[in-house]
Amino acid sequence: MSTTIAFDVYGTLIDTHGIVSELQIMVGDIATTFSHTWREKQLEYSFRRGLMKKYETFAVCTSNALDYTCASYDIDLTEEQKNNLLLSYQSLPAFKDAEESLSKLKSNNCRLFAFSNGTTNAVDTLLVKANIRDYFHGVVSVGDLKSFKPNPAVYEYFLKVADTNKNNTWLISSNSFDVIGAISAGIRAVWVKRSEKAVFDPWGIEPTITVNDLNGLYAIIN
Ligand code: 2OP
Repeated sequence: MSTTIAFDVYGTLIDTHGIVSELQIMVGDIATTFSHTWREKQLEYSFRRGLMKKYETFAVCTSNALDYTCASYDIDLTEEQKNNLLLSYQSLPAFKDAEESLSKLKSNNCRLFAFSNGTTNAVDTLLVKANIRDYFHGVVSVGDLKSFKPNPAVYEYFLKVADTNKNNTWLISSNSFDVIGAISAGIRAVWVKRSEKAVFDPWGIEPTITVNDLNGLYAIIN
């Protein structure tokens, strides 16, 4: 049975801060900080909606988080500017290492899936625009369960939809909460520590393996 790999999307394959240059024109020098707050709030909203069983799509979390971030930095963007940012969020760039790594893994008969908080349509569109959709066997959206990562049910759901089992599967993610979620559900997980400064959540649960970028994957999974 070939190895199945679940790739997290936002922050792992796709650079959520690829929007900074557009933000710079709108918010100036605080663009990078703004982008980080926006991303953190987006994830917080997904966690809270999951806990409260108040599901709305990840795109709604993203839009609500943008409103929060504007209010928090006292920045008055027009509706048109916000809509343009949300539109750009649908065509964020892939990280530079994504394509080569996916290509190598796929040619070695690994079954690759995109596994994301985003809806199937949103993720499909994103991967097509980033020119990496063809590497994937399929897209598994946790939104099908009207929940978000790291609800244990979403990892079980992945195994079911991808028709695989825990022993034959890896999750790849730069998001430590996702790595901890997968390991807690019994799935091996690689943490992609993209920056020296990235801190893994100190919960006493460690990633199975840590790599600095996606090129490090081929040596350990093939
Ligand atoms: C994703 O599910 C967690 O944002 C990340 O794609």
